Amino acid sequence: MSAAVELASSRVLVTGGAGTIGSHVVDQLVDAGAAEVVVLDNLVRGRLANLDRALRRGGDVVRVVEGDIRDVALVHELTRGRDLVFHLAALRITQCAEQPRLALESLVDGTFTVLEAAAEHGVAKVVASSSASVYGLAEEFPTTERHHPYNNDTFYGAAKAFNEGMLRSFKAMYDLDSVALRYFNVYGPRMDVWGVYTEVLIRWMERIDAGEPPLILGDGLQTMDFVHVEDIARANLLAAQADVTDTVFNIASGTETSLRELADRLLAAMGSDLAPVHGEARKVNAVTRRLADVSAAREQLGWTARIGLDEGLRGLVEWWRAEQRLGQEAPA
Ligand SMILES: NC(=O)c1ccc[n+]([C@@H]2O[C@H](COP(=O)([O-])OP(=O)(O)OC[C@H]3O[C@@H](n4cnc5c(N)ncnc54)[C@H](O)[C@@H]3O)[C@@H](O)[C@H]2O)c1
Repeated sequence: MSAAVELASSRVLVTGGAGTIGSHVVDQLVDAGAAEVVVLDNLVRGRLANLDRALRRGGDVVRVVEGDIRDVALVHELTRGRDLVFHLAALRITQCAEQPRLALESLVDGTFTVLEAAAEHGVAKVVASSSASVYGLAEEFPTTERHHPYNNDTFYGAAKAFNEGMLRSFKAMYDLDSVALRYFNVYGPRMDVWGVYTEVLIRWMERIDAGEPPLILGDGLQTMDFVHVEDIARANLLAAQADVTDTVFNIASGTETSLRELADRLLAAMGSDLAPVHGEARKVNAVTRRLADVSAAREQLGWTARIGLDEGLRGLVEWWRAEQRLGQEAPA
């Protein structure tokens, strides 16, 4: 039987749909003609403002439910009658390290509830967010999906690896179709600006705008594989539409960029002639290299990253500056 799901007229649940990536998935589902898009988000990190565009364009299509994936009855209620589930709700890697029990309950138990409900209510497919963190520091580059997960030593990566196994077991036990997507280093509009776990790019933009040089923690030689949030959302939709199940895919640009190079390219995107400075390296998530092999996603999903880093950074800066202006105009 085909595992391809039509998006036009589909009824969809998006967990974590008010977050950075989830809200872009919602935007693209509205554009693709979905009939119903229910967002389940407890707003620990996401923002309702991230859904402004989707609500403007698809006000009668999008429904936002403020609630938790740990609420078993609610998850079942919202899953009944849905064709597709995009499961994105999760805590960040740093918060998982600080609150591992909460991480266990949210990432692992919460994901179990989402899959249990999907299987019970006959959902055609689940598209789940995994992470490059399952690899830890990989031994081979470019890293393929067949690389083992035993170099990971983070609770977050362990939970994501377990979730991938759980997806496979739900296929074996209940014939629930699913795809898991291992995102590499995600950036773009709607990154968390105000939260505790702000990303390095946000901290650098703040400094550069204040006339201070970007601060690189460590020597800056570690590399990342950056992929724009709109490309990630498009991968989610393609994973639903493709006749593919029980499979994981790397979702990345397939190019590596060092932190030093990133700082230089951000400075250029912001029109600044400052030079970066260095500080002490971070302890958590000390992965020194990331570079994905993305051929599986290209061949089986028809997906490749479209937004290059310089174009993506210019868009990020534009969005961030608009957010800053809005913040300044907001009443105290
Ligand atoms: N951003 C990255 O660099 C990256 C990389 C790899 C994987 N991922 C994965 O992609 C997914 C989306 O990430 P994102 O960057 O959009 O993060 P995000 O924090 O912006 O979005 C996650 C959303 O989930 C919500 N949430 C958290 N716990 C919840 C709960 N118990 N019940 C309901 N909602 C809950 C948050 O409020 C938030 O809106 C996550 O699964 C994340 O692990 C992200």
